[in-house]
Formats: sequence, structure tokens, C-alpha cells
Amino acid sequence: MPTTMRAVVLREHGTIDRLTYEENYPKPQVEPGTVIVKVEASSLNYHDIFTVRGMPGITIPMPVVPGLDIAGTVHEVGEGVTGIEVGDRVVVNPLDSGFNLMGEVRDGGLAQYALVEASQLIPLPDSVSFAEAAALPVAYGTAHRMIVGKKAVTEGDKVLVLGASGGVGTASVLLAKQLGATVVAAVGSHEKGRALLSYGADDYVNYREVAIDRWTRENVGKPSRNSTETGFDVIVNNTGGDTWRPTLKSTKLGGTILVCGATAGFDPIEDLRYIWSFELKVQGSNGFGREDIEALITLIDEHGFRPVIDSVVSLDEAADALWRLERREVTGKVIIAPWGDKS
Ligand SMILES: NC(=O)c1ccc[n+]([C@@H]2O[C@H](COP(=O)([O-])OP(=O)(O)OC[C@H]3O[C@@H](n4cnc5c(N)ncnc54)[C@H](OP(=O)(O)O)[C@@H]3O)[C@@H](O)[C@H]2O)c1
Repeated sequence: MPTTMRAVVLREHGTIDRLTYEENYPKPQVEPGTVIVKVEASSLNYHDIFTVRGMPGITIPMPVVPGLDIAGTVHEVGEGVTGIEVGDRVVVNPLDSGFNLMGEVRDGGLAQYALVEASQLIPLPDSVSFAEAAALPVAYGTAHRMIVGKKAVTEGDKVLVLGASGGVGTASVLLAKQLGATVVAAVGSHEKGRALLSYGADDYVNYREVAIDRWTRENVGKPSRNSTETGFDVIVNNTGGDTWRPTLKSTKLGGTILVCGATAGFDPIEDLRYIWSFELKVQGSNGFGREDIEALITLIDEHGFRPVIDSVVSLDEAADALWRLERREVTGKVIIAPWGDKS
């Protein structure tokens, strides 16, 4: 049996150029209570960029294989593991029992094999492709917990999704539509806006051309302290930075702002007057649970739900694809296929 494998490896923090494609990275060895998964698909998240850069307060053991999301087949089963067979189709809960994240504290999915705890495995029906499954855990799981789990959106709501072309963004658009909301996608280009319309958004705003609070005033009505008829019921903001204040100014009286990230900055200019005057609810949401991933698999299996996939690339193209993510050139999820032709 080969003792090495192909993998994308981070050995020191810096730019995405620090990621190296390696042919002879050590293949993980199975341990009691664990399973080796043959990785058929992984996916990129903005979190991988934070991992490469380094995050305050989080120590990443080096070297590390990034890639939070993993779908594949069971390759080897460790001692003491029951109910799991070699060849089973699975998706991996990225958090282990100690709340360590795959692809951050533990070697992740940008490799041909991954070592996971048996308890992290979630069975995958044949109706869900490996690429679809790899799109789910972090981006769709987080959006599911935020929107469905917290019962934040109900039928008929007017919902604005910022960063709508991203992984969490596209997931938020699809899930809010599934719940019967009218959804506006805020995006950085008309090309992305047209793509979001094709995935079901009712309208889009290009926030490089018009501030979202102005667009809201002109299209949904300026929020009023006396009426709940104008402004958005719910705004999904995983961007932060200079989108925060316009978000406060676009939410209706008693409306909700959902926050699960801050791609553009975590300490934006605040304006508390909007929070009290319009009785806004700011609802944080962090991560996903196993139940979110299972619910999403059921949505695909039984209700024709389809995650938005931007592209499928091989392992040696993963770093280039992460550059595209950083340059904001992606709509949906980039899937990495470690056994693809080119890797
Ligand atoms: N708390 C949690 O558990 C959790 C889980 C998942 C993700 N997150 C966070 O949620 C955010 C989105 O993650 P993701 O994986 O969905 O990211 P992604 O796929 O890269 O999407 C991010 C989107 O945000 C938009 N954007 C706006 N301002 C940006 C900026 N300054 N830099 C880069 N993109 C910007 C981009 O679209 P336009 O160019 O169209 O604006 C981009 O498509 C990240 O901050 C991530 O860390 C948090």
C-alpha cells in the first residue's frame, strides 16, 4: 500500500502562494475509533484564505492540509468502529468531537485521503453527488443554521443577501427562496447578478454601482419608525466592513440582521441610533451542526435542492482557484476533485 499521497500543503502563513502541491505527503494512518476517507471531493471556503493568512488567537499546527469540507468513500476502518464499512459513501462533519476543524487544526480535504473520527461521518445517499456533498458542510450548513435553524425567515419576507455570490451567500439565497421569501442578491457585478437571478433570486443590486441603502430607499422604501411596510425584513450580512452601516439603514422597523462573518472587516463603523430607533434585532450565528448537514442532504435527496457549483478543479489547480476566490471571481462553490484527471 502506498504510504504517501498527493496533497495541497501549508507550511507557513502568508499569501496563497505559500500553498504547495505535493506528490509525496504522508498518507494518514488509521487509529482506533477513526476512519480513513478516500476524498472524492472537497470545496474551498473563504475560511481557507484566513487559514493561509493566519488568524489572531488561532494556532495552526504546521504543516497542515487545508480543506474544511470532505465527501468520499470509506477506505479503511479503525479498531472499535462499528456500523461503517469500506466503500460506504459519506460526507464528513468538519468538526471533530473536540471541536477541532478539519483543514485548520487537523489535515483536511485538499488531499487524496483524510483521517477522521468515525463519529464525524454522515451517510450519503446515491442521489447526492460527491461534489454536491462537498459543497454543503461549512457554507450551506452555516446558512442553514442561520436561516432555517434560527427560524429567521418566514414566507413572504423581503430578504436582502450581501455577498450573495459566495458560498454562504448562494446558500442563503436558495434557502430563503425555499422558505417562500422574496430575495434580493447584493453582488459586485452584473454578471454575478444575472447568475443569481438564474439561481432563483428575485432581483439583484450591484453594490459597486449603488449603495444598498439608496437602492433600498428607491426599490423597497425607506425604513420608517412608524411602519413595518418599508425596508427589508431580514438582511444577511457576512461581509461587515463598509457594508454594515448601509445594512442598518436598510432594515425595516423591528427587522433582523443576520451575521455570520466579516469578510470585509470585523470592526466596522457602528451607528447605534438605527438599532434603537428601528428596534433592530442583530442575530449572530456561528457554524453548523450535524443536523444542518443532514437536513441539507434530505433537501437534495427528496426536494430537488441543488447547491450552486462554480467549477470543479483538480488538486494541482486548488491554489489558483483560491486566488480566484480571493479576487471575488467566483459564484457558488469551487469543488476540488483530488482524483481528477489533472492531479
Ligand atoms: N461563523 C461561521 O461559522 C462561518 C461559516 C462560514 C463562513 N463564514 C464567513 O462568511 C464569509 C463568507 O464566506 P464564504 O466562504 O461564503 O466566502 P466566499 O465564497 O468567498 O464569498 C464571499 C463573497 O463576499 C463578497 N465580498 C464582499 N466584500 C468582500 C471583500 N472585501 N472581500 C472578499 N469578498 C467580499 C464577494 O462577492 P462580491 O464580489 O459579489 O461582493 C464574495 O463572493 C467569510 O467571512 C467567512 O469567514 C463564517
